[in-house]
Amino acid sequence: MAYELIDVRPMTKRIGAEIFGVDLTRPLGNQAFAEIHDALMKHQVVFFRDQPMDHDAHKALGRAFGQLAIHSGVAGLPDHPEIVAIHADENSKFVAGENWHSDLSADAEPPMGSILTLHTLPEDGGDTLFASMYAAYDALSPAMKAFLDPLTAVHDANPVYKAIFPDSTKTYPCNSHPVIRTHPVTGRKLLFVNSSYTTKINELSGPESKAVLDFLFEHVKDANFQVRFRWEKHSVAFWDNRCTQHFAVWDYFPEVRSGFRVTVAGDKPF
Ligand SMILES: [Fe+2]
Repeated sequence: MAYELIDVRPMTKRIGAEIFGVDLTRPLGNQAFAEIHDALMKHQVVFFRDQPMDHDAHKALGRAFGQLAIHSGVAGLPDHPEIVAIHADENSKFVAGENWHSDLSADAEPPMGSILTLHTLPEDGGDTLFASMYAAYDALSPAMKAFLDPLTAVHDANPVYKAIFPDSTKTYPCNSHPVIRTHPVTGRKLLFVNSSYTTKINELSGPESKAVLDFLFEHVKDANFQVRFRWEKHSVAFWDNRCTQHFAVWDYFPEVRSGFRVTVAGDKPF
């Protein structure tokens, strides 16, 4: 698609683009939606600057791309249950996303995407890294691709959230998904295991599963698959959660980094 309304500036060959020429504080027209969607499918994560969205505008942006999902692990804002606060300060014992992961991959239908905006930033630091799981898949040998193709893996949110909320009696999602997933829009194959949630490859023995997952968790960290985003106040990151993983760098303790996220519902991986 040739872009008529927006200006799309790729940040690397594999992943990431900045988008200019659109105002996300106002409803998106059909053409702007189509162009942003097209850029997101191509670049997998897109970034916007200087978009002081209120909660309603944030939700409206998400809803343009699908139904909003309620986070299965963390409660939303009292008046906006679809919005999760992302916050770290001098009292934080951990921050969200300090490992390579895709959001909520243990859900039966993991999110299509997440839209994060930050309103309070440390003086420097607090970047987010994103990695293309198309690129991770493409870089595997034909023999490894063929080996992984029929396999499925368990994604379990219980170890993650029970560590964060040790007093909770809640049970969190646990589901199996294909190790190699096909993107429902682009039709491209991609690697769909992550070190936060994926605990076991079903068809392998325990030691075999551990060896293969350890290899894959290292593989996805390859700098050749990545883009690194430096936040400013009111920046927005919108990632296709199906084909990317991300890592939030916590190098700014005890400073404050704070914002809001909405999650767009996805479908069952195949
Ligand atoms: Fe995340």
